[in-house]
Amino acid sequence: MTKLHNKQTAEPLPLVLAIETSCDETAVAIARGTQQILASEVASQIKLHQPYGGVVPEVASRNHNLTLPALIRTALKSANLNITQIDAVAATAGPGLASSLLIGNTTGKALALALQRPFYSINHLEGHLLSPFIGSEDGPRTCVALIVSGGHTMLVHLRGIGDYQLLGRTRDDAAGEAFDKVGKMLGLPYPGGPEIDRLAADGNCQAFDFPRSMIGSGDFAFSFSGLKTSVRYLLPKLSAPLETQLPDICASFQKAVTDVLVKKTLKAAAHCGENLICVSGGVSCNRGLRAAFQQACSNENYELQLAEGALCTDNAAMIAYTAAAKLAIGVPPSVLDEDIDPNLSL
Ligand code: KG4
Ligand code: ZN
Repeated sequence: MTKLHNKQTAEPLPLVLAIETSCDETAVAIARGTQQILASEVASQIKLHQPYGGVVPEVASRNHNLTLPALIRTALKSANLNITQIDAVAATAGPGLASSLLIGNTTGKALALALQRPFYSINHLEGHLLSPFIGSEDGPRTCVALIVSGGHTMLVHLRGIGDYQLLGRTRDDAAGEAFDKVGKMLGLPYPGGPEIDRLAADGNCQAFDFPRSMIGSGDFAFSFSGLKTSVRYLLPKLSAPLETQLPDICASFQKAVTDVLVKKTLKAAAHCGENLICVSGGVSCNRGLRAAFQQACSNENYELQLAEGALCTDNAAMIAYTAAAKLAIGVPPSVLDEDIDPNLSL
């Protein structure tokens, strides 16, 4: 395993303030180089979007606008810093909702301009990708990484900061999207992922035999829409009331998703000759998924690094960390007229 940069330096580590507003979480964080997260504030909008069963872009951007200035002040206060002490500013540039990205990215640029500090436009997926290394002694290392979120499911060979080879991704729904859509079908509140996780804890994962789509395909692609459809077909055929079957359905569905993710990730690690496996993104909070990865990696002698609980779902600590990792290897800042990109790829 290769260490990707040397943290031993006589220079004081730069203080990076980062803003993340790609979807429905307003987040601000401050990092001291890649060594320490001094503050990580997340203002969740879940309650505002729950009545609609999903994120409403207009509601999200309006609330980023309302929340962000105070959240920046809160982050500075919890880090015990004055804004003039910040050495660099970073903000998510994509992928995500255009109107949400614009709020955080423009605020970040305005701050950088006013403070006369470098600005780093950061890819949200790169933030998730590096998030398992936050707080680790060694910093980022070469690995095979699985990103599983509401918008993405992808396997990446991480060979260096900025050197990412996409091995495969979902052909249809992202894993988190499948959790949320199945949650909706089962009448659970938005987002379905954490609800399914909670119910699955009391269920029998062998009660229903859901498909493990593409588990044996020779590539590293995924597909979750067939699984979602098979849950839909099951519902009218249930012999007992849905409420009583929820734990078993959730446990069986979660196991079907997890089996495919674990199997393909370990296969990708073997293919790339990597011993370290990293898992990140909102779905990596899932307790069944975490346990399955721990078990499989221990059985097959892989080292596993899971993103820490609070850093699985969207946060700005991962954006600050990514910017700090770029600064550490001398990546030049972004130009201020570089636009956001809702479809930015890794
Ligand atoms: O990374 P994230 O916060 O946002 C995106 O970049 O998409 O991921 C959000 C996704 C949602 O689909 C949510 O249901 C899912 O992560 N999620 C979970 C759990 N917690 C969040 N899925 C399964 N189990 C969980 N405990
Ligand atoms: Zn995300």
